[in-house]
Amino acid sequence: MYASRIDIPAHARKAAIRLLQARLSDALDLVAQLKQAHWNVRGPAFIGLHQLFDAVHGDVEGFADTLAERIAALGGIADGRVQTTAASTQLYRYALETVAGADHLRAVAAVLAQFGKALRGDIDAAAAIPDTGTADVLTEVSRATDKQLWFVEAHLSGT
Ligand SMILES: [Fe+2]
Repeated sequence: MYASRIDIPAHARKAAIRLLQARLSDALDLVAQLKQAHWNVRGPAFIGLHQLFDAVHGDVEGFADTLAERIAALGGIADGRVQTTAASTQLYRYALETVAGADHLRAVAAVLAQFGKALRGDIDAAAAIPDTGTADVLTEVSRATDKQLWFVEAHLSGT
């Protein structure tokens, strides 16, 4: 960890970095999963879903950036390597054979919900460290994840 003038003790920064890194790996997996859906969806609702998944991808890329930069601000090294992401992600693996729009929507909704649940647990863990800045970052990402889950699930209403 890098030295910093920040008034959060090293042990607290280390604990916060551990929480943030776990969610960074998930977020980077999400980034890839959203492109997987964007590229491979087919069917009558193609163009709307193709665009929806790219819009969610853009937001999720922002989540990864926010989490990584909090790690850097705390004096840590943000590990965005694909090998680390593959080894550390706690999200469901995307099924390569997914084709139909509803199946892509269900797959994306499942991982967004998983990510949101993990974030909600981390908010309380960060507050207990205590690192309110990290708790705020996690809250921000969690709120935005809930919104993306709503966008995706709204397409599944009535199906
Ligand atoms: Fe594209």
